[in-house]
Amino acid sequence: MTIAWCSVVERQPPMLSVSCADTHHTNIGIKKHQAFSVNIPSEDMVERVDYIGMYSGKKVDKSQVFEIFYGDLENAPMIEEAPVNMECKLINTVVTGKGHEIFIGEVIAAYAEEIYFTDGTLDITKIKPLAYSTGQQKYLTTGDIIASAWSVGKNLVKKR
Ligand SMILES: Cc1cc2nc3c(=O)[nH]c(=O)nc-3n(C[C@H](O)[C@H](O)[C@H](O)COP(=O)(O)O)c2cc1C
Repeated sequence: MTIAWCSVVERQPPMLSVSCADTHHTNIGIKKHQAFSVNIPSEDMVERVDYIGMYSGKKVDKSQVFEIFYGDLENAPMIEEAPVNMECKLINTVVTGKGHEIFIGEVIAAYAEEIYFTDGTLDITKIKPLAYSTGQQKYLTTGDIIASAWSVGKNLVKKR
C-alpha cells in the first residue's frame, strides 16, 4: 500500500511506525507475518505509487506492479526500484479505536545502492524522494538543501 503516515519512533534499536486504516488488505499480511517493509519511492515512481494507493489488494493483484526482493525476513517483500528499503519486524501494534492500526516495527536491515550516498551518508538530492501534501492531495518533488540542521538555529543565539 501507499503510506503517508509513516514516522521514525526510536533510534537504537531503529524503529518506525506506519498508521494503516484497519480495512486495508496490507494489515492482514502484517499481522499474519509479523513483518512489513517500508520503501521510499523516487519521483519517477509517482504513477505506480498512486495506483497502489487507490486500489486494494482485496480487489486487484498488485504484486506485479513493482519488482520485489527479499532480505533477511522471509515475508517482507521490498521494492527493487525504490532507492531505500527497510525491512521491519513487528514489535507492537496500537489500535487507535477510530479505524487505524499503528504498526511499530524494528528495522532489522536497510538497503540502498551506493549511487544514493555522498560521503557515506544517504543524500536526499540523489534519492529524489516523492513528497506528498495531504491537504492538497498533490505529489511534489523535494527541493534544494537550504540550511544545515542542528546548526542554522544557533544564529539566533549569537544575535541575542
Ligand atoms: C498518497 C497516498 C497516501 C496514503 N497514505 C495512507 C496512510 O498513511 N494510511 C492509510 O491507511 N492509507 C493510506 N493511503 C491509502 C492506501 O494506500 C489505499 O487505501 C490502498 O489501496 C490500501 O491497499 P491495500 O488494501 O491493498 O492494503 C494512501 C493513499 C495515497 C494515494
